[in-house]
Amino acid sequence: MNESMNVKLANGKSSEVLFVENLNQLSSDLRNFEGRALWVADSNTATLFKKLPSSSIVIAAGEKSKNLSTVEKILKACVDNKLSRNDYIIGFGGGVVCDLAAFVASIYMRGCKVILVPTSLLCMVDATLGGKTAFDFMGTKNLVGTFYPAEKIMICTSLLKSLNEREYLSGLAEVLKHALLSKDEKLYKYLISRKSQILLRDENILKTLLHLSLDVKKQFIEKDPEEKHGIRQALNLGHTFGHALESCGRFSKFSHGEAVAWGCVRAIEASKKLGIIDEEFAQCAIKIFELYNYDIDYRIGRGEWIDFYNNILKDKKQKDGITQFVLMKGQGDYVLQPLDKTLVMNLVISNPKVNYYD
Ligand SMILES: NC(=O)c1ccc[n+]([C@@H]2O[C@H](COP(=O)([O-])OP(=O)(O)OC[C@H]3O[C@@H](n4cnc5c(N)ncnc54)[C@H](O)[C@@H]3O)[C@@H](O)[C@H]2O)c1
Repeated sequence: MNESMNVKLANGKSSEVLFVENLNQLSSDLRNFEGRALWVADSNTATLFKKLPSSSIVIAAGEKSKNLSTVEKILKACVDNKLSRNDYIIGFGGGVVCDLAAFVASIYMRGCKVILVPTSLLCMVDATLGGKTAFDFMGTKNLVGTFYPAEKIMICTSLLKSLNEREYLSGLAEVLKHALLSKDEKLYKYLISRKSQILLRDENILKTLLHLSLDVKKQFIEKDPEEKHGIRQALNLGHTFGHALESCGRFSKFSHGEAVAWGCVRAIEASKKLGIIDEEFAQCAIKIFELYNYDIDYRIGRGEWIDFYNNILKDKKQKDGITQFVLMKGQGDYVLQPLDKTLVMNLVISNPKVNYYD
């Protein structure tokens, strides 16, 4: 039997998250939509399904496809397949496929139905829940997008078997982040006690892990569905530092999750320097990233600082033109505030010239 979770979003909309038992169950659940859906997959995820229905479009895998030209191709496939407003677009893939599928669903005939079947861990724990859709435009990631929650999100942990190790660990970093933002320690303790099964991708353990992780995201989304009240912004913990690192590495040196893990630890260190975090919590928070072997001690070279800091200044999370960092005070207790440039420098450079408070 499928388990489910309901997530309430803005304007009376909601998403139903269904935990599907196995691939057979998933195929049989999806077969119900044949004849009234357009499937969107990428060149990797298309091979995970025995045979995609004829009404499908396969895009090239990877972030390079997340653009206006692919949006146009999917729209054209909707027209070619005579999709009506009451029909479905089914996104079957990672965050790129799901963001694009949901974006097209939000504009085709002023909005048709959308079902998302996330196939990467990042997409399962983060990208599908919360209704954000987007594509990259003029060199800026996710510049164009809408809020358009999927009617159903179908999660099948068996799909994760074929995901490569780096992508898997990239998604796992978001779970660790959720463990710190959670009001209780359930997810944190589960990550500690079930580490080996999690790394071996035990399907049942993953189901519980995803449940706990999605439940944390749900709490934030339901309180601030359209990211207007600074509550949902907490989910950006580690992302301001992390995006700047990803950008310095030209988006190839570090995976998103590796950068987020590194960024979470920098945010915790900043909170320590400012004396706002509970010491014991800070130690436990850093320990979990060490336990899962993320390279949290990495530092950028001095030559990369200007590029790094320019990216911090350009960060989307701004108030009155000043970048706001998510800092931690304790378990599930955070604050949004700007950080002094010298402090940031001391946290990220291997051998800074200027010392902060030392
Ligand atoms: N909408 C949101 O709230 C939200 C949140 C976080 C991230 N995102 C977006 O998600 C994207 C990143 O997601 P991603 O990491 O899933 O990237 P992705 O979709 O590019 O997938 C990563 C790679 O894994 C492959 N893949 C996916 N599932 C697989 C499987 N089961 N087996 C084998 N290969 C598989 C893909 O083909 C791709 O090559 C970014 O564009 C980001 O902006 C959106």
